[in-house]
Amino acid sequence: LTEKDLAEEHLLVTAGPTREPFDPVRFITNYSSGKMGYAIATMARRRGATVTLISGPTQLPVPSGVRFLSVSSAREMRDAVMTTLPEATVVIKAAAVADYRPAVRQEQKMKKKDEDLTLKLERNPDIIQEIGKQKENRILVGFAMESEHLVEHAIGKMVAKNMDFIVANDVTKQGAGFQGDTNIITILDREGEMEELPLMDKMAAAGIILDKVREIRDTRRNH
Ligand code: PMT
Repeated sequence: LTEKDLAEEHLLVTAGPTREPFDPVRFITNYSSGKMGYAIATMARRRGATVTLISGPTQLPVPSGVRFLSVSSAREMRDAVMTTLPEATVVIKAAAVADYRPAVRQEQKMKKKDEDLTLKLERNPDIIQEIGKQKENRILVGFAMESEHLVEHAIGKMVAKNMDFIVANDVTKQGAGFQGDTNIITILDREGEMEELPLMDKMAAAGIILDKVREIRDTRRNH
């Protein structure tokens, strides 16, 4: 029987990719399958938390007992997150949010022409940065998906965006990051602690991330 150690928490978890359309049939996206975020939502629910899962398009079944909001673009994800935020005590952002979207979304399917095509992209909102600015007592957990300078980049993001800790994964490593059932994560926190974990399945990684959430929650309670 799993201990219901998160029964007092409301976790807001984001997962999956976003889609950024430039005409009715095409979009820019990334390889996120949603598995990492869904694993966190599933494990948090098993540990008694109230869970809202906000997800971009994935092939995964909705974990049972979880409140589910389906979104597509980064802007939709931002709106769903900000609406849910007031109720959340813990926010975990496992989604792979597109930093840019096509500046124009054509009404009709774009026609092929002989010359090359240039697509202009504009910045999407940085959702976790916005949450970081109104963090209050929440525990804010980000992910960092890197292909080089993993630790350095992850610490930069954690500090700049006011996170309590960050989960870094190097997408160039075999068995880590996108798509698969496993990940290789490094957890970095504001105290300067670094925990480099071996390859494990995403459910086990989710469990360790939630242990870290509980540890921070318990430390705050005792102060
Ligand atoms: O879904 P899977 O196939 O299981 O793959 C898992 C994963 C690789 C997607 C996951 O483990 C992961 O690393 N997710 C975060 C990916 C990412 O967008 O990293 P980033 O370094 O670009 O962003 C840093 C943080 O800011 C993330 O928490 C991200 O959710 C957040 N962000 C990013 C951009 C943006 N516009 N708004 C955000 O909130």
